Amino acid sequence: MALIGPSLMCADMGNLQESILKLDQAGVDFYHLDVMDGKFVPNFTLGPDLIRTIRQYTKKPFDVHLMIEKPEDYIDLFIESGADMISVHAEATNHLQRTLQKLRDKGVKAGVALNPSTPISDIEYVLDVTDYITLMTVNPGFAGQKFVPLMNKKISKLKTLIDNEGYNIEIQVDGNIGYQTIPGVLENGAGMLVCGTSCLFKPDISLEDAVKNLRSFIAN
Ligand code: DX5
Ligand code: ZN
Repeated sequence: MALIGPSLMCADMGNLQESILKLDQAGVDFYHLDVMDGKFVPNFTLGPDLIRTIRQYTKKPFDVHLMIEKPEDYIDLFIESGADMISVHAEATNHLQRTLQKLRDKGVKAGVALNPSTPISDIEYVLDVTDYITLMTVNPGFAGQKFVPLMNKKISKLKTLIDNEGYNIEIQVDGNIGYQTIPGVLENGAGMLVCGTSCLFKPDISLEDAVKNLRSFIAN
C-alpha cells in the first residue's frame, strides 16, 4: 500500500500544531519537509528551527527534502533538528556517494532526489547506499505546479533498474501528486506519495476527510 506524506510547506503555517495533530489522527505515514536555500531553487521554506519545534508534535517519520546547494554541509544540523530521513539532490553535491554513506552512518534513511530532467543513470552507482529515491514530478521550488508528463516513464525505468539490481529502495514522487496523477505513478512503481495542494491541503475539505478520501482512492 502506498505511503501518504503531507508536504508541510503547503500546510497552514499559523496552525501547524493543530494540523499535524489532525493529520496524525487521520493516519498519515510520514511528513515531508521541504527545505530551500534560494540558490538551488528560487524559494525559501522550512528551516531547522521550525522542524525542531514541530518535532515534538508527532512521532511519525520526518522526511527532510534538502533542495539546497552542498547539502553535505548541513546534514548534522537537520539530523539534530529531528530528521529521520534526508533526501539530497544529486545535482547539488559533488560527493553524492560520500554524502549518502554519511547519512546512513548517522543513522538516518538516505535519500537521493532527482530533478525532472536528471537521468536515472546519475544514481546508478549509489543504489547500494540509498534507501529511497525522490523523483521530482514538477520543477522544484513551489507548490501548485503541473506534473511533468515524461515522469511516469522515468518512474517505470527506475523501478525496473531497482528490481533488476535487486535493491529494496522506495520510489517517492514529489509534486502535483493528486487524483489525476496518482493512478499513473502507482502503476509505474511509486510507493511514497508527497501530498501537497494537489490532494491534501485544499480550502474546501478538512484534513481528516482529505486523508480518508486519499486512502480509499489509493486502495481501489
Ligand atoms: C515542490 C515541493 C512539493 C510540493 C507539493 O518543490 O517539493 O512538495 O510542495 O505540493 P503540490 O501538490 O502543490 O505540488
Ligand atoms: Zn519536496
